[in-house]
Amino acid sequence: MIEKVNFRYRDDITVVNRAQFEAHIRLYEGYVNSINKIDKELNETDAGRSEANTTFGKFRDLKRGETYALNGVILHELYFQNIGGRQSEPDQLTAQYISKDFGCVSDWIEDFIATAKVSRGWAVLAFEQRTGRLRNVSLDSHDLGNIAYYAPILVLDMYEHAYFLQYADNKSEYINNFMKNINWDIIGERIRF
Ligand SMILES: [Fe+2]
Repeated sequence: MIEKVNFRYRDDITVVNRAQFEAHIRLYEGYVNSINKIDKELNETDAGRSEANTTFGKFRDLKRGETYALNGVILHELYFQNIGGRQSEPDQLTAQYISKDFGCVSDWIEDFIATAKVSRGWAVLAFEQRTGRLRNVSLDSHDLGNIAYYAPILVLDMYEHAYFLQYADNKSEYINNFMKNINWDIIGERIRF
């Protein structure tokens, strides 16, 4: 059983207002409920295993839903954790890591914003463990675009549900406000894992 994290709106969260935040939290909680229902089916029933095939059927639906819902839970938790905070700049070590792979922090920002603009789902600054370097990764869905062997460092939700209530179609303003409201303390912890 996966327990939801109880995220609360705080006054250091400036990228979204309370109404936008709380609507988004309800959506996140829906993914927690979904993965728990899927796990129950997989753990407690035949779940259609006897008819398993690549074209259609209950077991295939459950396996598709499993990674979609679980990634939905994980990515939302990483996103909600990495907004807010009081530190508006990356710490020295984080800036060094970013500069090593992107040239400098401002070049990374430019690339991350462009990555966000092309993403239908998520933009993720990720540590790619195969080559040991940071990459800005674009996901079109929770389960579409992830690198197999990587650790997300910074996560930005680019689904329209993340901003449309507040920003309507002004996607650029949402992205710019996100960049000013990154919780660099959390990013510093993730980059030192
Ligand atoms: Fe979302």
